[in-house]
Amino acid sequence: MRRLSARYIAGPELGDARRVVAGLNAAGKLATVDVLGEEIEHPAEARTIARSYLDALAAFHEDGLEANVSVKLTGLGLKLDRALCKSNLQSIAGRAQELGGRLVRIDMEDSSTTDATLELYRELRDEGHENLGVVLQAALRRTIEDARALAGANVRLCKGIYVEPEEIAFPDDESVRANFARALDVLLDGGCYVGIATHDLQLAEWGERLVSERGLTASEYEFQMLLGVRTELGDRLVADGHRLRIYVPFGRQWYEYSLRRLQENPKVAGYIAADTLNRVLPGNKVLPKRS
Ligand code: FDA
Repeated sequence: MRRLSARYIAGPELGDARRVVAGLNAAGKLATVDVLGEEIEHPAEARTIARSYLDALAAFHEDGLEANVSVKLTGLGLKLDRALCKSNLQSIAGRAQELGGRLVRIDMEDSSTTDATLELYRELRDEGHENLGVVLQAALRRTIEDARALAGANVRLCKGIYVEPEEIAFPDDESVRANFARALDVLLDGGCYVGIATHDLQLAEWGERLVSERGLTASEYEFQMLLGVRTELGDRLVADGHRLRIYVPFGRQWYEYSLRRLQENPKVAGYIAADTLNRVLPGNKVLPKRS
């Protein structure tokens, strides 16, 4: 597991994240850093994660790195104590603002947290934390409506990694893709700054077409990708003058994180297996099994 994870996770320590982000910046890429540890049981763990984010922000500021942070509200205590989660989020957002006006992106987790996540996002925005962004998942049927309600916001749009029931989510890849394209349109219509988060070549091209048709400059949107995934696509986007932000997870809970990603969505195991085989057996392109 450690060998498989090494490509997708910076390492266990903040120093690993600093080193990886510095390398990305040198290659013209921005970063968003995720402190691993969403499976928590005690308020003290939520405080520890929040502290790690404050340390990460201080380190990025000290090193002059182009990086912001991505937080998971369950990791900050959402399911233990909403008030604790809110106060953790407030302190991270406050510090991120002080240390270079950095954005705090609230990752979107499974559908049991969607309403609570959007609510907390809105509450903090209303309190004046303007450096907050959220995530919408194209897999969810509600997403177009959520996109309309988020006019003017900073929104990462992704497919959604969690396996959700068919009543609330599209069951097949084609519908998710179509909903992604539609949601991107709605978000751009609403004047949002969109993080187009995908490694799907078709969607990346669609994104490029939409931003070009609208005459957006490179500072009005960005592409986002996960560390270690389809780097050749990322390099091409950067070479073509787009902003690209790489999602960089780090932390001691790398093992739990890797295992959870595999459990949440078996498709990820297929990607990793195909990618590993392609590197071991170059020339024999192995395609991941579609779900
Ligand atoms: P698709 O699944 O079709 O992948 C295209 C190709 O990319 C695959 O064939 C494979 O080669 C490669 N690939 C994709 N994912 C891979 C992986 N994990 N490991 C190895 N190879 C992989 N989801 C969520 O629910 N909430 C969130 O907050 C976020 N945040 C987020 C941030 C960023 C920057 C990205 C890029 C993605 C997320 N996601 C997420 C995950 C997202 O919802 C989605 O599961 C993945 O991006 C895969 O979807 P694609 O659009 O890349 O297409």
